[in-house]
Amino acid sequence: MFSYEMPTKLYFGKGCVAEAGDDVKALGSKALLVTGRRSAKQNGSQAAVVSLLESLGIEWVLFDDVEANPSVETVRKGAALGRQEGVDFVVGIGGGSPMDAAKVIALLCTNELDDAALFKGPYKAPLPIVAVPTTSGTGSEVTKISVLTNHSAGTKQSVKSPLLYPKLALADPSFTMDVPEAVTIDTAIDALSHAIEGYMAKASTPVSDVWAEEAMRFLGVHLTNLRGHLPYAVREDLMYASTLAGIVISQAGTTLVHGMGYPLTYYKGLSHGRANGLLLPQYMKLMEESMADKAERVWEILGFSDAEDFGAFMKDLMPEVVELSNEDVAKFTAMTMKTNSVKATSYDVTAGVVSNIYKAIRR
Ligand SMILES: [Fe+2]
Repeated sequence: MFSYEMPTKLYFGKGCVAEAGDDVKALGSKALLVTGRRSAKQNGSQAAVVSLLESLGIEWVLFDDVEANPSVETVRKGAALGRQEGVDFVVGIGGGSPMDAAKVIALLCTNELDDAALFKGPYKAPLPIVAVPTTSGTGSEVTKISVLTNHSAGTKQSVKSPLLYPKLALADPSFTMDVPEAVTIDTAIDALSHAIEGYMAKASTPVSDVWAEEAMRFLGVHLTNLRGHLPYAVREDLMYASTLAGIVISQAGTTLVHGMGYPLTYYKGLSHGRANGLLLPQYMKLMEESMADKAERVWEILGFSDAEDFGAFMKDLMPEVVELSNEDVAKFTAMTMKTNSVKATSYDVTAGVVSNIYKAIRR
């Protein structure tokens, strides 16, 4: 038995924001735009959205205070502005951080939730959400998840509900043309991680596997060529792959790589993609044991011979190392073991397995 739900209407391709007028008009007469501080102003995405809203006579206000790995405090500030301004819908423009912030801001505009209830629910429907990605990694434009930094819990945590699916995803790869090299690599590896983890997850389905293989196929051809200037056609493939990989995790969820990666981001400052990239080869060694056929298929699609070969490639792509003391390993292992990522993984994940992986990636 499996189910498939993908309620987000997706527009994909160069100039797609301008084509979405009828759908955007139906969402109301005033919008809250949620962005980071700079990139939405520089890559053309905010201007494209504003020009569409103004052509439709829709008023808008801007909340451009979203930091990387946005905090609960930040989304509360955004929601206070949305309520005060009486907006009808929320448009998240940017990478995963602004899109994820927009989802919870939309939720907090219609729900009174303290910090504990925010991560648990139940929720009433949020304001309608529009997501405009400007990086190719998170896939948040097509998922029901928002990942926030919860300082009171001391880690990143997700708010998850089918109510969080954006009504509209407007994915224009031209907004990613000037993404810096390090971010291009990080986000591509995040998307790869979504495709692989979703493919291997206990909750994977025949439908999500189709998208996962397709996402890996589009990423695989560019993996060895993510440096320097990338032409539009490559940017388009990367965004297509990340959107497909987002559909994969919206069905199958993420697994141990994401669960183990969050403490590395929170405590060690590693970007989300780098954290995943460090962990992915070790994770694939487990999958070669427990999911041999699917692991073989991954290597076939990506063009690697095995986890060893993939690990050597990743070391070259992301040469960073992370300093982890024995105390760090013990603490992060205990944190990981409490997450759903353990149960979602197709392997008998014990604390010993997790701690061995942390030890294997440290300097
Ligand atoms: Fe991710």
